[in-house]
Amino acid sequence: MPIQFDEKTHCFHLNNPQMSYVIGIEKERYVTHRYWGNTLPSYVGSNHLQFIDRGFATNPFPEERTFSLNTLPLETSTQGNGDHRIANYQIRAQAGHTITDFHYDSYRIFAGKEAIPGLPSVRATTDVTTLEILLKDSVQQLEMRLIYTLFEKYPILTRRAVYTNVGEATVVLENAGSMSLDLAESAFDLLTLDGSHTNEANLTRQTIRPGIQRLESTRGTSSPQHQPFLALVDRYTSEFQGNVFAFHLVYSGNFIAQVELEQYGTTRVQLGIHPDHFEWHLAPMEQFDTPEVVLNYSNQGLNGMSQNFHQLYQQHLVPTAWKNKERPILLNTWEANYFELSETALIKQAEKAASVGIELFVLDDGWFGERHSDDSSLGDWVVNQEKLPNGIHGLAQEVHRLGMDFGLWFEPEMISKQSQLFQDHPEWALQVPDYPLTEGRQQLVLDLSRTDVQEYLIATLTDYLKTGEIDYIKWDMNRHLTEVGSHFFAAHQQKEIGHRYVLGLYRILDVITQQFPNCLFENCSSGGGRFDPGMMYYMPQTWTSDNSDALCRSVIQYGYSYLYPPIMMGAHVSTTPNHQVGRNTPLETRGWLAMSGNFGYELDLQTLSDEELAIVQQQIVFYQAHRQLFQFGRFYRLQAPDTHFASSWLFTNEEEAIAIYFNGLSRPALPTKYLKMHYLEAAAIYEEVATKQRYSGAELNQAGVLIPRVKEDFHTHVFHWKKISDPRTSVSS
Ligand code: DGJ
Repeated sequence: MPIQFDEKTHCFHLNNPQMSYVIGIEKERYVTHRYWGNTLPSYVGSNHLQFIDRGFATNPFPEERTFSLNTLPLETSTQGNGDHRIANYQIRAQAGHTITDFHYDSYRIFAGKEAIPGLPSVRATTDVTTLEILLKDSVQQLEMRLIYTLFEKYPILTRRAVYTNVGEATVVLENAGSMSLDLAESAFDLLTLDGSHTNEANLTRQTIRPGIQRLESTRGTSSPQHQPFLALVDRYTSEFQGNVFAFHLVYSGNFIAQVELEQYGTTRVQLGIHPDHFEWHLAPMEQFDTPEVVLNYSNQGLNGMSQNFHQLYQQHLVPTAWKNKERPILLNTWEANYFELSETALIKQAEKAASVGIELFVLDDGWFGERHSDDSSLGDWVVNQEKLPNGIHGLAQEVHRLGMDFGLWFEPEMISKQSQLFQDHPEWALQVPDYPLTEGRQQLVLDLSRTDVQEYLIATLTDYLKTGEIDYIKWDMNRHLTEVGSHFFAAHQQKEIGHRYVLGLYRILDVITQQFPNCLFENCSSGGGRFDPGMMYYMPQTWTSDNSDALCRSVIQYGYSYLYPPIMMGAHVSTTPNHQVGRNTPLETRGWLAMSGNFGYELDLQTLSDEELAIVQQQIVFYQAHRQLFQFGRFYRLQAPDTHFASSWLFTNEEEAIAIYFNGLSRPALPTKYLKMHYLEAAAIYEEVATKQRYSGAELNQAGVLIPRVKEDFHTHVFHWKKISDPRTSVSS
């Protein structure tokens, strides 16, 4: 049994072949953290808890001065009665105070994993076991459930908390964290993924220091500024070795992720909805479900962590219909046209696209209302007849006739002040009475907490999708939330709107994606502004960044790969000079970069020379032949971007392997570089496609390959091997 309760030690042992997690019950009341790491065959309790009479410590049992909540390693914080570390929850009683006293009550272990009402979560029915620990506050009749699901095949555990009011008075949740955990050590580095629009997902590594280190979003979305993720790693941990304890929140709104290195050298970790600007009124018999956190343990460094995330998200998070389905090579119209669209020009672009082998033609922004720039028409999802006289139907038909799928851009959550929708429904924008409406990109945000707005969006999208002519939707979202208030809800509920917005969004996505499971949805928020596991539950891929420059993308995609596999990261070959940074990079390099994500193009193919078009055609043919490797193979980082922006990675599956090395900036004093593959099957034989030379996997892993000198910026070296199925074949044959 993967989860067991030991009556003697009063411990729950959550155990699979790769990982153990141990929870204790202390004094029949307090739920403690006892162990997390490499799998243990059994747990008896050699790592006894420390009980010392410490200065300033308060004691729940007055005579027992060595026992204090202030130092006990806990699985949830306590509130107002002695645990002075960061708090995971806070509940305001009608009497005005925020004291609670939750005691362990009982537990339940069952096979499987329950879905969370209204929230996305990791999907699993088999090979998982769930432990639910119930705590009760008998003064106010409140309940807290700590829910743990252990995967049998991955060193992965999911955690969440549920707060229930079984009393007679409404209480107010002022903080409803998803999880809290006290690790007994502190010699960790903290890893986070940070950035900004067009510069997402930079890995930051810093030593944890006394006090609190926190990352957060109060922008209404998970944001490009920080991933809802953190990892604690041993100081020696690298891509290839060492312990990693990683946490990723399955949520798309305001979040907090924080660690506290406390006075006696232990480390508290917490993740959940951000408590600022948040409140939830919990009436009698109501419960509040918090978003889930994925806890990922690796003893094989950061590549090990990424393998766990990649497999979990591809197999258990994205919509089931898409987990094994190949993705089409697309051409997106944005950078070629911006808002200047005409049916004639688009059809010409589509014809060119079809002629080189593009499989999906995506019409981006600009096709509706009076959308001639980004200052109007959001909400008026009616085709502009001047641009498209035969409507979406006419263009879609033409694209289909050319043998491609057809995709369309929407930004459903937004409303322009200059729109018919705003004339008709000014109350549908998020707003606070008497205060000005702050615009971003000259647009406002629809109040998705309202059911009438949700219904309107469901009906609008359904009308387009039910024609059967749209095979793909790009769901964009280009600003953050301000004046987060709603006419629909009472004054006392205004601090609930941030979370209600996210619940409304999830409801719309749930209805639409279930109704149209075969439509491919691409998540976008000015690129990676809302690239989080919550959105990936509904949409299996994301436009990774509005920065399409190959060099910048090598850093951004490298960063996102810590959490997401390449198939989830939209990556397009765009024109040169690049529109965001003005850089010229070789078409070949742009191709390899885009193939290292979810492959597509975003330029006017008609402007390319015959030689360039031939390269594009070759890229498409190559990608089609190796799509299984790029989309479903294993992806490993081999070299992080250095000061000259050189970086490299490896794709491998049962049949073949491709290593890609970007040289970044060329330099005269080139260091000698052997690129080691690390992750090929050591006993297998690999034949280099270009030379037919055969090598053992062990040799390629350990001796590596020489990176030849090329006097050119942004050059790419690609090494491609076929795996020879019979490992007894001699290396020299
Ligand atoms: C932001 C997206 O990231 C771009 O790709 C493009 O779709 C624009 N919005 C359109 O307004």
